[in-house]
Amino acid sequence: MNWTAVEENEWEPLPEHVLVEKINDHQVEWRFIEGYHQNEGFFPSIYLWDAFAPEHIFGPAGNGTYENWNEDPLSWTGEYIGTGPYKFKEFQEDDYLLLERNDDYWGPLPEPEQVLFKLYSDAGPLFLALEGGDIDCTEAAAPPAKYDDYVANPDLTVGVVPDLGINYMGFNLHPTGGYEPLQDLALREAIAAAIDKEYIVDIVEAIGRRKAIRAFKPDPVPRNILREILELALRAPSCENTQPWEFAVAGGNKIEEIREAVSGKIDEKHNSDLPLPGRYSEPFKTRRKAIGMKLYEIKGIPREDMDKRKLWRLQGLRFFEAPAVIYICIDRSLYFQDDVINSWSVFDCGLVAENIMLLATQYGLGTILQMQAILYPDILRAILGIPDSKLILVGIAIGYPDTDDPVNQFRTERASLDEVAKWYGFD
Ligand SMILES: Cc1cc2nc3c(=O)[nH]c(=O)nc-3n(C[C@H](O)[C@H](O)[C@H](O)COP(=O)(O)O)c2cc1C
Repeated sequence: MNWTAVEENEWEPLPEHVLVEKINDHQVEWRFIEGYHQNEGFFPSIYLWDAFAPEHIFGPAGNGTYENWNEDPLSWTGEYIGTGPYKFKEFQEDDYLLLERNDDYWGPLPEPEQVLFKLYSDAGPLFLALEGGDIDCTEAAAPPAKYDDYVANPDLTVGVVPDLGINYMGFNLHPTGGYEPLQDLALREAIAAAIDKEYIVDIVEAIGRRKAIRAFKPDPVPRNILREILELALRAPSCENTQPWEFAVAGGNKIEEIREAVSGKIDEKHNSDLPLPGRYSEPFKTRRKAIGMKLYEIKGIPREDMDKRKLWRLQGLRFFEAPAVIYICIDRSLYFQDDVINSWSVFDCGLVAENIMLLATQYGLGTILQMQAILYPDILRAILGIPDSKLILVGIAIGYPDTDDPVNQFRTERASLDEVAKWYGFD
């Protein structure tokens, strides 16, 4: 199949918004007006849902049993065809569709001899049937209010499927059932124009938008959002695909407990699992100083005001009041290996951490990766039950950014590419 986007004025004639032309027996071309379907990626996804039916059976030149199949499929009386692992057996309108195993299937045969698809007109009865064991599974998304119960229910397995597909907004244009103002094309166009599509889908945008957030709103981050972010972040590459990362996610009363406990430690020497950076040489020293000074300036903290500096440090220890923190841990054996220190697993965790932070931006969340989050690992082990066999590398505080706070309103500088990149073998 070929897709071609054309300008509106090239459109001859303009019967609908899509034109399908047969090129030869094995190729068809779909033409659509550029921009009409928002983007070209959306177009194939819609039209691939259409079924392709063999004309020699179903068309007017077919066996004549049924020429009208696409208008009234229920009245089909001929033979059902297909090449999949199951074939059609029975269909009861508004009730069920029964498939039976196709023993002539070319691939490995599936175990179940029959598959029954029950039809439910809405989610209420569907999920009651699932809870009552009347059905074995559903692809439908669990209602948000029931999600946590389902995860906790030992009789149910909840699968999380990363959704990178393009979602759509549907308008109900039914003349009586629909919402009347939506009949107005200009309104629909205005809604489409108001959706910031790049914001939603563009990774480049996310890289540009991410920055360390140091003031959060108290609103909790729903657990399922944190799960989605972590699920997607797991696609990070890792050294020899070892996937060394493990996460300990604290929110609710647990993060409050940690906040309280570490606040009481502020004057005590810390003992992080991994040593903190020592003295920096140039140009790193200057860069480090610049961010520290900038933050003091924004917070109105004179350099010599030790009390204010301590209060600011306390805010850091308290995750800037973020409602959740994700600790990234690795197995101790990955880092301390016989006679070597293996820093590659720590490197891998940096990759997963960046994934988490970029994804969080896409969900309207803010993050800050913090050394300050792991200064007192004993407290974390006691409160979260992290065993000694795991090293706690870093914490990512996560929550909804308080965009009014000046501390979130500046961007850090970067050295120019020319300062950090040298090119070899290029003109
Ligand atoms: C490994 C690492 C540890 C960090 N630890 C802290 C921290 O403890 N406290 C803090 O305020 N910021 C911390 N940061 C945030 C950095 O200061 C920040 O990423 C950097 O200044 C660049 O700014 P940007 O993230 O806004 O682009 C840390 C960042 C990294 C990568």
